[in-house]
Amino acid sequence: MSDKPTIKPRENGPYLVTNCRQLTGLDGREYASQGTVALCRCGGSKNKPFCDGTHWSHHFDEHAPPPA
Ligand code: FES
Repeated sequence: MSDKPTIKPRENGPYLVTNCRQLTGLDGREYASQGTVALCRCGGSKNKPFCDGTHWSHHFDEHAPPPA
């Protein structure tokens, strides 16, 4: 089993990052590594950069065009 970090998009959901050793935001903020993290892809999370499940209630569709 590889310990190489991987990022996979979940269907109509977050990016799932496995073997995450370090996570740094665009603002330089460091987040504690939890090994596997789900990063928001829908833009609706109230706990960014992490997914909080809001994509379910927003019916996030990865194939829909972005809002104008
Ligand atoms: S992808 Fe889950 S809240 Fe955005």
